[in-house]
Amino acid sequence: MENQGIIKRIKTGVAGLDRMISGGVPVGSQVLVIGSPGAGKTLLSLEMLYHNAKLEIPSTFITTEEMRESLIDNVENAFYAFEDFEELLERNVIQIVHKPILEDFKSRENFEKFIADVIATVNANKSKILVFDSLSSLRAVMIDDRTFTRSSTYMSEVFREAGLTAFITVEVSPKLDVTEAGLFGTSMFDGLIKLSVNQSAGSSQYAIEIAKLRNSAHRISSVPYQITSKGFDVLAD
Ligand SMILES: Nc1ncnc2c1ncn2[C@@H]1O[C@H](COP(=O)(O)OP(=O)(O)OP(=O)(O)O)[C@@H](O)[C@H]1O
Ligand SMILES: [Mg+2]
Repeated sequence: MENQGIIKRIKTGVAGLDRMISGGVPVGSQVLVIGSPGAGKTLLSLEMLYHNAKLEIPSTFITTEEMRESLIDNVENAFYAFEDFEELLERNVIQIVHKPILEDFKSRENFEKFIADVIATVNANKSKILVFDSLSSLRAVMIDDRTFTRSSTYMSEVFREAGLTAFITVEVSPKLDVTEAGLFGTSMFDGLIKLSVNQSAGSSQYAIEIAKLRNSAHRISSVPYQITSKGFDVLAD
């Protein structure tokens, strides 16, 4: 599909994925990336930041669970063709920051402080893109689904006001149902990307689906992908 009209887009840099979404994600979109464990939420998010960093577009990756060093090791092992990944980190074009979700985020005030702190981090390198990996850990400290949904909505509103294009990951069961993860819906997000993995005959079958992306003519049906040393290979025509 051709790049549509005047809407400014951020390329994901994954060629097959960009073809699925009219050339990229509209700037300022809040995109939920849901997927079953091991489907590639973390790696896909990091790959998008890598390609944008190559274009000198700065970004921040907030990791709530995995430690920074193990995350970097995982990326460098999975994508060993990304030789300059380390250099981009050193130059701070990509910032990877570990920020754990704490029990005291039950307090609204503390949660809002946490989000303000995320924004301060983002501003440190003038990030245009933010990855928040993952929202799932927030559910664990929130009292109920309602509070979790309200907090998630607040978070995406703050990211939107900051002009960030954000990718927020959520781990779900293979049914790929967000309500199961504790979110009442996805209306607060502009985009919903679903990643799935099935094990069969000793190999992993991955598939990606763009369930929604506002302001974009996007492909509806799911498309297989592979995770290669050069990054995601989304087999969309
Ligand atoms: N070195 C590698 N070579 C090939 N594939 C790899 C490599 N490292 C990881 N992978 C693939 O990437 C998948 C993990 O990707 P990733 O960590 O991004 O998933 P995730 O959806 O974030 O998982 P989680 O729910 O655990 O956070 C693995 O399941 C594996 O299939
Ligand atoms: Mg992950």
